[in-house]
Amino acid sequence: MYNLLRGKRGIIFGALDENSIAWKTAERVREEGGIFVLTNSPAAMRLGSISELSILTGAQIIAADATSVEDLENLVDRSVEILGGKIDFVLHSIGMSVNVRKGNHYTNENYEYTEKGWNVSALSFHKLLQVLYKKEAMNEWGSIVALSYMASQRVFPDYNDMADNKAYLESVARSFGYFFGKDKKVRVNTISQSPTPTKAGQGVKGFDEFIEFAEKMSPLGNASALDCANYTVAMFSDLTKKVTLQNLYNDGGFSNVGVSQEVLENFKK
Ligand SMILES: NC(=O)c1ccc[n+]([C@@H]2O[C@H](COP(=O)([O-])OP(=O)(O)OC[C@H]3O[C@@H](n4cnc5c(N)ncnc54)[C@H](O)[C@@H]3O)[C@@H](O)[C@H]2O)c1
Repeated sequence: MYNLLRGKRGIIFGALDENSIAWKTAERVREEGGIFVLTNSPAAMRLGSISELSILTGAQIIAADATSVEDLENLVDRSVEILGGKIDFVLHSIGMSVNVRKGNHYTNENYEYTEKGWNVSALSFHKLLQVLYKKEAMNEWGSIVALSYMASQRVFPDYNDMADNKAYLESVARSFGYFFGKDKKVRVNTISQSPTPTKAGQGVKGFDEFIEFAEKMSPLGNASALDCANYTVAMFSDLTKKVTLQNLYNDGGFSNVGVSQEVLENFKK
């Protein structure tokens, strides 16, 4: 523990259960001295165990559907009130595809489902940024992070419409990050994380094979949820003040490897 976030206030989206990347991040942020409000959708409040995390970290919970601007406005207003000042860090750790859930192939999308998943996984980030921006809720040199995945840049067939959602998410981070940087001195980045065994991760078809493949491709092995939490803490801290508009890989090196010796072993004649 380095007290990297002492005196900083934030909002953490997306802690569903103890496997969630947001859960680990909340624990690490607390250890580093940050205080925050936890938020998730009303459905997740019923299904998950966020109240346990609230007890562990001393953080209050405010329910918000990230697709509802009204909910986001209420969340931001109340967070500033509860935390006693403007916000220094925000984690958007939200993803959901209805097509994936229903088993619809990418070549056979139900577009109502596509729109719903895009709204939850990608447009919600623009909505959140816009609410924070208009309300002038961020302190100067604050940091906003959303979580992404490599399928935004390269083809992973079973990642389905989430690939498109992540491409949109990364683009929003750059486009809105420009204005947030210029006008408010706030940085906006995405962290592109290794496959991680969480509720959202395990929803992707063939996840078990895939996580093993990624492990074998990555010189450092897959990054865990805790590794992602640690990287996010660094991004929230004052040690990364000039990093913005980036999609940052936390993937053990996977994204720059063409093939690894371990993977080639499988094709030995
Ligand atoms: N698990 C992986 O393999 C992996 C890899 C790279 C990136 N990511 C990304 O990390 C983020 C966190 O996912 P996770 O793996 O921790 O899984 P998770 O299932 O624990 O978290 C997803 C969260 O999204 C929340 N959510 C869904 N709909 C919402 C809504 N309408 N409003 C507010 N919240 C809503 C869920 O309640 C849940 O808490 C996601 O953006 C995911 O795409 C995950």
